[in-house]
Amino acid sequence: MIENFQRPSKEFDLGGVVPWGRRFDEYELFFALDDVPPGVAILDAGGGPASFAVEAAARGFEVTAADPIYALDGETIRQRFEETAVAMRAGMRAAAYRFKWNFYGSEERVHRRRRDALEMFLPDYERRRSRRYVPASLPALPFGDGAFDLALSSHFLFLYGDDLDGAFHIAAMRELMRVAREVRVFPLINLDGRPSSHLPVVIRDLEKDGFEPELVPVPFEFQIGATRMLRVRRPAGSG
Ligand SMILES: C[S@@+](CC[C@H](N)C(=O)[O-])C[C@H]1O[C@@H](n2cnc3c(N)ncnc32)[C@H](O)[C@@H]1O
Repeated sequence: MIENFQRPSKEFDLGGVVPWGRRFDEYELFFALDDVPPGVAILDAGGGPASFAVEAAARGFEVTAADPIYALDGETIRQRFEETAVAMRAGMRAAAYRFKWNFYGSEERVHRRRRDALEMFLPDYERRRSRRYVPASLPALPFGDGAFDLALSSHFLFLYGDDLDGAFHIAAMRELMRVAREVRVFPLINLDGRPSSHLPVVIRDLEKDGFEPELVPVPFEFQIGATRMLRVRRPAGSG
């Protein structure tokens, strides 16, 4: 009998995948984007209310974001954000011991950043809805084969691994590799701070398909232990 085994408590009571958006400088660190030149066509899969797409455009990147919430109008997305903020802030305070605070400083500053991202996202969303922001859900995206140089998935795959099963993760990664030449995913641990149990299965499956998955250290750590991204490429010469 295992007496002292205890699962980490469920500090985050979010009720599913929530709209909570990050900024360009965060994505830059999550995905070590310093090797990605401007002009590259990027897909932000599950982009939500992040300001990555609008801030990246100002820096010369061509970003398309895809998310089921882009079927909603801006005011509804704002309402969903407000509901999320209550649960997310409570969760982050309860789970403060599971985070490294050197980048953000405090829960209040994380919240401020999410709100700043929302306020940059919403006006751009109103202007460029259906061009830069495409309503779509993994694992079936409305884009052609190889439409993007790079696809990013931030804080969706693996993080919500208790809500989304292994088969979903495999299908989603295959779809991202269909529409992009390279895929990067961060973080690789779930909301409870445990390494995702889906990761080994997904890596094995990608290798079986002939892709080259790698765990690459990134210059960012907030959830303790979330220090690597999954980067998947095609073998050299395979187009
Ligand atoms: C926590 S947010 C992350 C937003 C953004 N990527 C970031 O890191 O700032 C997760 C997003 O995943 C989206 N999502 C939920 N189900 C999805 C699906 N099947 N395919 C793509 N995105 C999905 C949600 O609508 C939500 O906006």
